[in-house]
Amino acid sequence: MKDFKLEVAKSIHSQTTDLSLEDIISLIEIPPNKEMGDYAFPCFRFAKVFRKAPNLIAQELASKIEKVGCIENVEPLGGYVNFFINKKALAESVIKEVLEKEDRYGSSDIGEGKSVIVEFSSPNIAKPFHIGHIRSTVIGSSIEKIYKFCGYNTISINHLGDYGTQFGKLIVAFKKWGSEEEVKNNPIPTLLKLYIQFHDEVEKDPSLEDEGRMWFKKLEDGDEEATRLWQWFRDVSLDEFNRVYDMLNIKFDSYAGESFYSDKMPRVLDMMEEKNILKESKGAQIVDLEEYGMPPALIRKSDGSTLYITRDITAAIYRKEHYDFYKNIYVVASQQNLHFQQWFKIIELMGFEWAKDCVHVPFGLVSLEEGTIATRKGRVVFLEDVLNKAIQTTKDIIKEKNPNLENIDEVAKQVGIGAVVFQELSNNRIKDYTFSWDRTLNFDGETGPYVQYTHVRTCSLLRKANEEVNCDIDFSLLTDEDSINVITVLSGFSKAVLDAMRKNEPHIIARYVVDLAQAFNKFYHDNAIIVEDKELRKARLALVKATKQTIKNGLALLGVASPERM
Ligand code: ARG
Repeated sequence: MKDFKLEVAKSIHSQTTDLSLEDIISLIEIPPNKEMGDYAFPCFRFAKVFRKAPNLIAQELASKIEKVGCIENVEPLGGYVNFFINKKALAESVIKEVLEKEDRYGSSDIGEGKSVIVEFSSPNIAKPFHIGHIRSTVIGSSIEKIYKFCGYNTISINHLGDYGTQFGKLIVAFKKWGSEEEVKNNPIPTLLKLYIQFHDEVEKDPSLEDEGRMWFKKLEDGDEEATRLWQWFRDVSLDEFNRVYDMLNIKFDSYAGESFYSDKMPRVLDMMEEKNILKESKGAQIVDLEEYGMPPALIRKSDGSTLYITRDITAAIYRKEHYDFYKNIYVVASQQNLHFQQWFKIIELMGFEWAKDCVHVPFGLVSLEEGTIATRKGRVVFLEDVLNKAIQTTKDIIKEKNPNLENIDEVAKQVGIGAVVFQELSNNRIKDYTFSWDRTLNFDGETGPYVQYTHVRTCSLLRKANEEVNCDIDFSLLTDEDSINVITVLSGFSKAVLDAMRKNEPHIIARYVVDLAQAFNKFYHDNAIIVEDKELRKARLALVKATKQTIKNGLALLGVASPERM
């Protein structure tokens, strides 16, 4: 795309030697409303230099700048110089770029192929996904897509919670009360039930606790039976999780979970020993973090067993050695803020300068409207149930709206799942929010279905027109207010993508596609598109096609499909 901001900056630069081109670019602002132009340059910085009021400087500067190329008009207003961009040039450059780049519109190569690890989802084996894992999955997967779109080489890791004393307990519970049949038929709920049963029984018989510990020790020592059962629990759980990942169209490059690091921890403990950061405390080993305003981190228990945090430290070192990451991102609920602060500090104390490249991307809690989702014991939500309910409800809505739709099952899946995913991404990730079906599946609100429906609208216009749509058009026919509105939003896509990447905030793209859909729908309601006049029709169809492409690219970054009919 033609860089209009750069053109404006150059025109200012030609009139002053006091600022570099880069400085000018960084000073240029977007005015709050269109009457004030497309770009504004504040003159306050010069006031001291020239000993003149900013508004006088603005007047002088505005009178000197030539109205050539993409600059249609220049006007002083207070201490600002406002620039008006030639609308035809804008329309031409934006639409040409979208239609030429297609699926790559909005992408960049600023990542230069550097490796970024995005760790997300990371559920615990033998337990259902809880609502926090859903958020992590959806946000993390989108973040990974965004980095990839910006030219990074991404590696997605599912740090499965597949290790720890709870597996000793589960083995005991299974051996005492479990049936192989039942686990096979209904793996996660059955394993969860056994785990809960273990905790109920422990109240009556505390010796079970020791038995659990013993079985975990056996597992750590590679005992055949313990390993076989653990592996089986892991396999059946992963099969369940994969069903959900398939529905969401999510794949991981690595499923190296906590157990993967069990044999790598001794070396890391030695390294910590060497750096002299471990302290003895009642037979256990800790890192004292008082100096940094944090409670001590327990690294190794008195019985020699390691902890969650020990595995995280080990995993990070392994990842650096194995992937040589540029950034190592963790998409994990904000409840674990302290955990990440603690171990990032420990990595730093161990002397790893790359500690600064580890990033915790936290998110807030979701609560559920009473009675919205079937919750079973312990307020556990089965993600699959949520998705299936969304699909079913969507199917009912579509049946009513468009009874003759051919592949209704496929579309209901795309829209139902898209609605849930979009809802997750339509708030700042850090904000807590309440999940509501009405809001999620509303076709008119600022929702996934609304954006998808706008995409469908563009598809149906292009189908109806049934003619070739390209850039060989008269761009001056797209300079009316509605068209320019859409074009201005279209032109901001790359910036939204970069913003979302820098802030690890997919919400920015969700917001962007809603804005685009709204601008387009206003254009659509106020203007006939398939008109008699051939030139006008061709121009408007090009705008429709560019909108279709950009919505599709935006939704793809969120992990939401763009059906052609619904
Ligand atoms: N399995 C953990 C949980 O469910 C989340 C893991 C987060 N990732 C990490 N590297 N600690 O709470």
